[in-house]
Amino acid sequence: MIKEKKLKLHDNIQFIYELALARLELDALGANFEITNNLREFKLNSTGNLASLKRRLAYFKTVDAEFTDYYFIQAANQTRSVNQYLTHWFYPYKGKFHPQMIRALLNIIGIKEGETVLDPFIGSGTTALECQLLGINCIGIDISPLCVLISKVKTESLDALPKIEPTKNDFMPAESLVFGLSDPQTSLFKERKAKKVKDDKVKNFFRLAEMIAHSDSARRKKNFQTSFVFNVDRMIASLKDYKKIAAKLNLKLGETDIREGDVRKLDLGKKVQGIITSPPYSIALNYVANDAHALKAMGYDLDGIKDNFIGVRGSGMDKFKLYNEDMLLAYKKMFEVLEAGRYCVVVIGNVTFQNQEVDTTGEVVRQCEAVGFKLERKIEKIIFGLYNVMQKEYILIFKKPAK
Ligand SMILES: C[S@@+](CC[C@H](N)C(=O)[O-])C[C@H]1O[C@@H](n2cnc3c(N)ncnc32)[C@H](O)[C@@H]1O
Repeated sequence: MIKEKKLKLHDNIQFIYELALARLELDALGANFEITNNLREFKLNSTGNLASLKRRLAYFKTVDAEFTDYYFIQAANQTRSVNQYLTHWFYPYKGKFHPQMIRALLNIIGIKEGETVLDPFIGSGTTALECQLLGINCIGIDISPLCVLISKVKTESLDALPKIEPTKNDFMPAESLVFGLSDPQTSLFKERKAKKVKDDKVKNFFRLAEMIAHSDSARRKKNFQTSFVFNVDRMIASLKDYKKIAAKLNLKLGETDIREGDVRKLDLGKKVQGIITSPPYSIALNYVANDAHALKAMGYDLDGIKDNFIGVRGSGMDKFKLYNEDMLLAYKKMFEVLEAGRYCVVVIGNVTFQNQEVDTTGEVVRQCEAVGFKLERKIEKIIFGLYNVMQKEYILIFKKPAK
């Protein structure tokens, strides 16, 4: 008798939308399957390309009793949070993507190794890191210099690891600073300048470690210097994990190109094979106020930069109007740079304003269809966050019609 080939879901899968995405990624990778009695197991009816299933799948722990690449990647984690593996945890950025979902979406929209994906609202760089792990190139754009720094450090530091480690001691604060005897906000900058580090990747790495310490001290009242020292060590440990896992799985890493820029003025000079992004959820989160401590520490004048952030301009009902105008420009640009016949994924949630739910999602569909996209799929993503508070978001998959 021929032995049955099985697929097992990862232990962390708990939501219906994850099961929906798991099925879609199997379809996209050409597997013919059925769900067996045990809901966490699937039976493969035709084998297809087992090696590519093992290499690419996001929601499965085993394929034919062998661990998937993602099982090993997810395990390379210096934090207690299951989705903060490798460098994903660098900086506690609010509203980041679930990385496993991005890996699945890259499969679902059929992106191949060597192709290029754009995320024009790259935020903390989740799309860029997930592309990199699958050998996919990524262009990431954000208006926030802090987001550009986070995304660069997450994806570019691996190359610089041999230079980062020996530089570590130069960046360690003097004893007087550790005990809080000097102004922590400025002293590290001065120290670093004195050392004149030339390499941008090394400079960025330590600068981000400082920003994490600023965030820890502003939001969690942690001691700035202790947090800096702790985070530098943990960041280096994560880079070492990344190096090990890339060698073990023989990963061919994708190239990343992270730029500071405004999506409304997007001009890449070339087409991309996919877009995966999550724009600001209307006026839900003020990205300037939210990261004010770090942006200030980086030397930015908040009033000077805030007007370019979508969803922050104006007040009251005017805010919605400006948001919609800005996003229409953004979707037009996204449509222009996408190759025909390819997909654009927008993850968005509705927001509440003066106790009323604002249908942001409906507006996204209207605007995207107005610029030429066709909605192919709408997946409801209901999750339960802290204190079991329900968060409802939508994964909207649009297609740019083939010519
Ligand atoms: C929902 S967040 C993206 C989070 C991201 N998906 C992640 O995993 O971290 C939206 C991002 O849009 C950026 N943004 C706001 N206005 C922008 C503009 N005009 N051009 C480009 N990015 C902008 C914000 O800085 C913010 O990082």
